Amino acid sequence: TMTFPNRIFLVGLPGAGKSTVGQYLAKELTYSFCDLDQIIEKNDGRLITRIFSEDGEASFRLKEKDALRSISQEKVVVATGGGAPCFHENMKWMNDNGFTVFLNPSIETIVERIIEETHRPLMQGDPKKKLLELLSSREVYYKQSGMESSQSDPCEILAELLHFFKN
Ligand code: S3P
Repeated sequence: TMTFPNRIFLVGLPGAGKSTVGQYLAKELTYSFCDLDQIIEKNDGRLITRIFSEDGEASFRLKEKDALRSISQEKVVVATGGGAPCFHENMKWMNDNGFTVFLNPSIETIVERIIEETHRPLMQGDPKKKLLELLSSREVYYKQSGMESSQSDPCEILAELLHFFKN
C-alpha cells in the first residue's frame, strides 16, 4: 500500500489553477499551503514583476530555487510558479522531496482565467499564443510529474489524488 505524500507540489502553466487548487487541497487534507511566488515576494520585499524588470529573470530563478528549498513544513501543498520546474533541477528536487502534480487544463480554460490579469510578466501580448509556446517548451519538465490532471475543478483533482494513492 502506497503512503500518501507529505509534500505535494503543484506545477503547470500560469493560470492552470495552482493556487486555487492548492488552497483547496490543503484545506481538505488539513495540510499547510504555501505559494512559492509569495515566499519570494516576502523574502525580497518586492513584487515579482519588479524583480523581473529590475534584476532580470536569471536573478528571479535563483531566488525561486532558494525559496523552494527553504520550505520546511511537514505536511504541505505548494503552488509553484509556472517556470519553476524548468530551472536549477527544481523538478528533480521536487520529485526527490515530495509528490508532483501537473495541472493541465485546456488552454481555453487558462486563457479565460488570465485574461486582463496584468501581474504575469511572461504573459504580455496574445495570451493563447504565449501559453502554447510556454507549454511546448515546458512540457518536458511538467510531464516528469507523478500525476497529471486535465480537470479544472479542485474537487475532481482531490478525488484523482486520493484515487492515485488508494491501496
Ligand atoms: C512564471 C510564472 C509566475 C511567476 C513568474 C514566472 C513563469 O507564476 O513565478 O512570473 O515563468 O511561468 P504563476 O505560474 O503563478 O503565474
